[in-house]
Amino acid sequence: MPVSSFAPTALLVTGGAGFIGSNFINRFIPLNPGCRVVNLDALTYAGNLKNLTAVEKNPAYRFVKGNIGDSSLVAAILAEEKIDAVIHFAAESHVDRSISGPEIFVRTNVLGTQILLEESRKHWQSGQVSEFRYYQISTDEVYGSLGETGYFTEETPLAPNSPYSASKTGADLLVRAYNETFGMPTIISRCSNNYGPYHFPEKLIPLLIANIIAKKPLPVYGDGKNVRDWLHVKDHAAAIECILKGAMPGSVYNIGGNNEWKNIDIVNLVCDLLDVRLGLKPGDNRKLITFVKDRPGHDRRYAIDASRLKAELVWSPAYTFETGIAETIDWYLANQEWVADVTSGSYLDYYQKQYGGKA
Ligand code: NAD
Ligand code: TYD
Repeated sequence: MPVSSFAPTALLVTGGAGFIGSNFINRFIPLNPGCRVVNLDALTYAGNLKNLTAVEKNPAYRFVKGNIGDSSLVAAILAEEKIDAVIHFAAESHVDRSISGPEIFVRTNVLGTQILLEESRKHWQSGQVSEFRYYQISTDEVYGSLGETGYFTEETPLAPNSPYSASKTGADLLVRAYNETFGMPTIISRCSNNYGPYHFPEKLIPLLIANIIAKKPLPVYGDGKNVRDWLHVKDHAAAIECILKGAMPGSVYNIGGNNEWKNIDIVNLVCDLLDVRLGLKPGDNRKLITFVKDRPGHDRRYAIDASRLKAELVWSPAYTFETGIAETIDWYLANQEWVADVTSGSYLDYYQKQYGGKA
């Protein structure tokens, strides 16, 4: 596929106070001084403005607390800021929560996306900006589950298994439809599991680190042999910038780093790395491992073929897993206050102190 050379001047990032969105903004702003960034985030349990202290005083950055489902707010931001690219990260993102309460996943991930798409369409068609992109941050989970072999390509049929992945698939199909029906310049990327700083400790890797520090059990679902393909969040952030600028409207890119791990092997690795850092005997942390009942509908294996992205847009991951996981563990050890804050919910007060409003 040919490539584009889009130079955004005003980005609307949704969900920028979450894990991947905040890593994206923290990286993008210093590298792109000619572009303003507006972060629209509802600050749910997963959104934390402390992730953004590095950019909060930068004149190129503006935070708006609000919901992607608020069409008049979205319309006002698009018009006032002359937004020429929307990058849509905001979502309910945790599979286990989607099993215990799917409704908010449909509301946020499907209906929220449709409202954002519709306001983006009106803004784009109003001709207020000369070029426009709507960029949907999706996931490899829309492809369902793999057996022992093979990879997800961009042509793999969508076959989601969890309410989370079903809601993300619904959103992807709406994005596709806005491109087909209205000719809206949309892009979709589908990334594998991310890890790195500011990852909410309900997800596997930060949960392991936080539980080891707290000497709590390490729950391993089922037989622990489910496979995930891990990518450092900063490599994902770099890929998103590359795709935003280079992808042709209507295109889809997979993002991944060829880094498959069985869950139990990750658990053992994190235990061993933390044995050393906490001055424990080899094997001490592994004693915390507890096999628990499997997640219903648990996808067996994810593995991404990112060769289209690598060939067309010349992206490749900068992190090896060895460096990335060591750096991540060190970040969590150095930022235990952040973990304590997000697990207690006290970070919600930060918004009031910073912005004087009600979180
Ligand atoms: P996250 O849960 O850490 O953050 C989500 C953010 O969205 C939070 O800041 C939250 O406050 C905000 N938000 C939620 N509902 C909102 C609403 N209605 N209006 C405005 N803001 C709202 O999620 P994440 O892990 O950073 O994931 C970001 C995106 O990347 C998601 O779309 C997810 O599906 C996708 N993704 C995640 C991974 C991963 O490994 N985490 C992998 C591939 C794709
Ligand atoms: P998770 O981080 O929730 O990401 P996803 O479900 O989107 O892949 O889980 C990663 C893998 O780890 C997944 O196979 C489920 C498993 N898992 C556990 O075994 N124990 C846990 O406590 C959690 C949160 C996940």
